[in-house]
Amino acid sequence: MKTEAALSDIVRDTLLGLRSSPKYLQSKYFYDDEGSKIFCEIMRMPEYYLTDCEKEIFSEQSAGICKAFGNGNAHFDILELGAGDGMKTRILISHLMKNGSSFKYIPIDISEQAMELLVLGMNRDFPALNINGMIGDYFDMMQELNSYDKNDKVILFLGSNIGNFSIEESTEFLQKLNHVMKPNDKVFIGFDLKKDPEVILNAYDDPHGHTRNFNLNLLHRLNRELQANFNIAHFSHQPFYDPDTGAAESYLVSLKNQDVYFGATGDTIHFNPGESIFTEVSQKYDLAIIEQLATENGFEIAENFTDARKYFMNSLWRKK
Ligand code: AVJ
Repeated sequence: MKTEAALSDIVRDTLLGLRSSPKYLQSKYFYDDEGSKIFCEIMRMPEYYLTDCEKEIFSEQSAGICKAFGNGNAHFDILELGAGDGMKTRILISHLMKNGSSFKYIPIDISEQAMELLVLGMNRDFPALNINGMIGDYFDMMQELNSYDKNDKVILFLGSNIGNFSIEESTEFLQKLNHVMKPNDKVFIGFDLKKDPEVILNAYDDPHGHTRNFNLNLLHRLNRELQANFNIAHFSHQPFYDPDTGAAESYLVSLKNQDVYFGATGDTIHFNPGESIFTEVSQKYDLAIIEQLATENGFEIAENFTDARKYFMNSLWRKK
C-alpha cells in the first residue's frame, strides 16, 4: 500500500535530483515491488559474489560468530536493519537455536510487504523463533525499542548495505547508530572489500542484464508512479569503478537530446546527449578504512570475519 506521504517524498526527491547539476536519483527508490524482484535475481547470479561470500562466512564460521556475539553476555537479542529476505540471517539464527540460546529476533524494514514475507517465512522455518518485526525508520524504531526493551542487542547491517552511503554519509550514519546503542550493544556490519576491478565491474555490469534492468527500472518506476514519459531505450546503464577511492558507481546516461514530461506535476526535464544521472554508489573498503570508520565514530573492532578469497568482511564492533 502506498501512503500519500510516500508518494510525495518520491515526487520531491526526484524533481530535486533531476533539477540538480549533475543530475542524480536516490538509490532507495530502486526497491519498488519490481525492483525488489530484480534485486533477488541479482543476488542469485554468480557474478554478484557479495551474497555468496557472506553466506560462506556465516556457514563456515557460525560457531565463532555466535560466540563473539554473546561474549560476556548471558543474553542478547538480534536486531536487523533492512533484513530483506533474511536468507543469510537464517544461517545464524539456525545455529543459535540449535545451541539452545534464548533470544528475540527483531528485523526492522521500511517495506511492509518485505516484512510480511520475512515474518511468514521465519515462522514457517523456525516455529519456535521469537520474532518481532518492526516497520519504519531504523533510528525511530531503535529509539522506540530502547524505551521498553532493556536487553543487550547485536545489530546486523549486512550485505554491504552500508556501501550505498558515501564515506562521509556512512560516518553520519555510524554516529547516529552509536548514539542509539546502549553500552553493551554490538553492531555486525558487512563490508564488500576492494579487489580485482574486473570482478567488481562484472558484478555491476553482468552479462545477464539483471543490473541493467535494476538501474533502468528506476525510470520505469517514475513512468508508473509520476506518470513520466521516459523512453527507456534512450537511456543506457553505465557502471564505473574507481580502484583508488573504492567507489563503484552506477549512472543512467541519456543517449540523445530529449525532454521528459512528468504528468503528476506538469514538470519537464531536459537531457543533453551524453548527460548522466547518478543513481548509486556501492562503496568498496579495505581494512584500514574499516578500522578508521570504527574508531572515528566511537567503536572498537571486537572481531573480523572474512571468506576464503578475502572478498568480503563481516566486522563486529562494540561501543568504546
Ligand atoms: C543492496 C546496496 C548492497 O550496492 O551491491 C546490487 C545493491 N546495486 N547491484 C549493492 C545493488 C546493483 C547492493 N546493495
